[in-house]
This record gives sequence, C-alpha cells and structure tokens, in this order.
Amino acid sequence: MVVTSTASPHDKLYLAAEFADMDASPHAPTPATWRARAAAQQPEWPDPDKLAAVTAELSSLPPLVFAGECDLLTERLAAVTAGQAFLLQGGDCAETFVGSTATAVRAKLRTLLQMAVVLTYGASVPIVKIGRMAGQFAKPRSRPTEIREGVELPAYRGDAVNGLDFTLAARTPDPGRLLRAYHCSAVTLNLCRAFTTGGYADLHQVHAWNQDFVADSPAGQRYERLAGEIDRALSFMRACGADPAELRTVEFYSSHEALLLDYDQALTRVDSRTRRVYDTSAHFLWIGERTRALDGAHIEFAKSIANPIGVKLGPDTTPDDVLALMETLNPERRPGRLTLITRMGANRIREVLPPLVEAVANDGAPVAWVCDPMHGNTFETPSGYKTRHFDDVLGELSGFFEVHRATGTHPGGIHIEFTGDNVTECTGGSYQLEADDLHQRYETACDPRLNRSQALDLAFTVADSYRRS
Ligand code: PEP
Ligand code: CO
Repeated sequence: MVVTSTASPHDKLYLAAEFADMDASPHAPTPATWRARAAAQQPEWPDPDKLAAVTAELSSLPPLVFAGECDLLTERLAAVTAGQAFLLQGGDCAETFVGSTATAVRAKLRTLLQMAVVLTYGASVPIVKIGRMAGQFAKPRSRPTEIREGVELPAYRGDAVNGLDFTLAARTPDPGRLLRAYHCSAVTLNLCRAFTTGGYADLHQVHAWNQDFVADSPAGQRYERLAGEIDRALSFMRACGADPAELRTVEFYSSHEALLLDYDQALTRVDSRTRRVYDTSAHFLWIGERTRALDGAHIEFAKSIANPIGVKLGPDTTPDDVLALMETLNPERRPGRLTLITRMGANRIREVLPPLVEAVANDGAPVAWVCDPMHGNTFETPSGYKTRHFDDVLGELSGFFEVHRATGTHPGGIHIEFTGDNVTECTGGSYQLEADDLHQRYETACDPRLNRSQALDLAFTVADSYRRS
C-alpha cells in the first residue's frame, strides 16, 4: 500500500506560518565560541561519544519556545526596568523527572497565580510571571563529591545529569538524562501553556484556586478576603458591560539556569526573521553566581543568544564586576535584555547592595533589579537539614526595598524557590515551623523551598513593601 500525505496545501501554509520565526534545520549555524573558554561546574561525562550522540539528537528536536515569545518577554522586562511592572520568578530549586506530573505542575502554577494576584491587587502593578519551571534540571554544587559514612561519590547535579540516590550507578553522569530533561521540559511547558490559556488561570477562578486551602491556613484566609474584593470588582465591571479578554488568560514564561552548556547549545536555533540566535530551551536563562566569571564559558554563551538574560550576584560582587557584565552582555543597552538578581544574605544586603545600585544608576544603563532572598540565607540545622528561616528571607527583601528606596531606583521583582505543596523545608511563616518539624515533609532534591502558605505570606509582605516604596 502506498501511503500518501493527507496534508492539504492549506495545512502546509499553516505550518509554514507557525514555524516561520524559527529555522528548523538541525544544522543551523550556531555559535559555540564558549568552547574555547573555561566552563565551570560541568559534569564529568564518562562517555563522550554518547554525549555527542545525545546533543546531535537534541539539535534535531523542535524548539520548546519561539523567538517572538522571548522578544515579548524582553519587552515585559523592559517595563520592569522602567519601573512600570514587577517580576515574579519562582519554582523549584531543582525540578525532578518524577515531579513532572500534572498534579505537581498545577500546584506550583496555582501558587504562582495566587501570589501574582496578591501582588497585582496589593501593589497595583502588572506582574511579569516566570517559572523556574520546564527546564530547571541542573545544579551547580559547592563540592564535586559527597561523602557519607566514609563512602565518596559524585555529587548530585540535578536530574539532567545524575540520580539523587546515593549509589555509584545513580550518581554516575548519564548523557541520556539530557534527553529526558528535554522531554520533561516539553511536557511541563505544555501543561503550563494549557493551564494558563485554557481557562484555569481565568481571574474569575480566583476563589477556586484557594478552595482546598482556605479552611486551615491563615494565609489562605487572608487570600480569601482579597479574592472576595476581586470578585466584587469583577461583578461591578460586568455590570458596567466590561468583560476584558485580558482577565481570561495569563502570560507565563519558562526559565532555568543556563548551566549545562552542551544542552543549551544544542537547543540554540536561528530566528529566520532576524537571523539572531536564541536558546529555545526556555524564554529566560540566567547565569549562576558560581559560573558568572567574565572570561568564562557561561558569559560567552549568554553573549551569543538573544533571549533576555539574568545574572545572579552574590555578596562579593564589586561595582566594576557589574559594569563589566552590563557592557559584555548588553552593549547595545537594550532595556529588558539584562536582569541582575542579587542574593546577598539578610545580614549583608544593606551594606553590599548600595554601591552596586549606585554604580549602575550613575552609568545609566538599563537594568532590572531583582531580589533572590533565598540563596544568601541557607544554613544547616544540627540534625543535618539544609534550611532557611522565613524571617531571614523577609529580612533580605526588606533590605532590598530599603536600598532601592534610598537610591531612588526601582525594586523590580523577586526570584524565589517555592513549591505548591505543604512541605516542611524552611522554618517560620504563619505556621511557625521549627527546626524539629523539618523531617515531616522534607522533599526537595536540592535547596529548601517555601511551601504554599509561606509563599503566600511572602506575597502579602512584598505587596505592602512595594506599595510603600
Ligand atoms: C539557584 O538559583 O538554585 C542557585 C544555585 O543560585 P546561585 O547561583 O545564586 O547560588
Ligand atoms: Co537553589
């Protein structure tokens, strides 16, 4: 039997239009000048041939995001830079393959949507929403190996590299995992797109997102009161004949740390409209505190792509570092291209952030300033749990708002690690979790995340601080 294509000329036109903004050729010319630079935090893959086969396959797979979407996000971040919008970026420290389920993704999205509503309503500002989702599968580590009871094995580097189990088989890096990371990212992004545009994120659902939460949580009850006010406002608008389409869907973007350069490189594609190169594995990529060396491979890679870029800045960052990063990553001074994500620690932020903000303000280059109040506030309990005090997280945020108020600059957003479930990983919050409670539901594959109550508590506090800034 001869099988003939059933696609009509019309279908072909449709497909051509859909993919017009991305060159589908697997061998599209992509730059790899970063290969000549030192790349920190790369796994020691035991089988280079297998890695080459995997990256070849990745480069033949469809893009996960499109150039036009990345450009739209750059525009949104330009509004953040100009003080007209606020960024909410968050999700797991490390996504996992087993966690890429509809239930877990919906729970994270729901928490993000609830936080965004609290912020939009409380701070009266448009919220740009980016998940640490659909690609956050690789982690930098402070030590290459982990020792337990005298046994030394490679450190866990995220599901894209190796497994969390403390066995040699699990901890040996396996390039096949990069393919699974791609497919889990695709599944997660598909769910996010469906949830945010298919009715679930409709603002009229503002109560429904809270249904399972309201009875037993102070944050849920506070949210319920706010949802009641929003409901009344929506009824009022409907009565006036206004029912804007903008309230029915949500614009959502994906992001991850651009850490495994072989993976991100394999997903670069050339935009056929502009001939510019995009990393199509996510809308927004950030470079971590440990890999942001100016002459290193990660910054060289970031230079080569047209997506909006973030750079994490720790407490040892100097004003010269920041000026050099701006010049390297955004020589054209395009607003929205560069976001600086500070993670200084609650105790240091008031001392170390002002000189950086002042240097940028004096230079005049456009930058979105975002606070990551998590990574400078991690410590280990005597019983061995990596945790964060909720009060330290709020402390760093309040320092961030204070510094920007004093310099007259815009506190542009927050970058946090949270999950949609009631885990017990960070202490404090409205349930006053203690170090002794952490064992109850400690599930993170890497850093401790805020649970849903703590995330909502934080959103209320940030909305208040923003309004006063
Ligand atoms: C992270 O965001 O999970 C991370 C490792 O952050 P940083 O680069 O700021 O340490
Ligand atoms: Co983390």
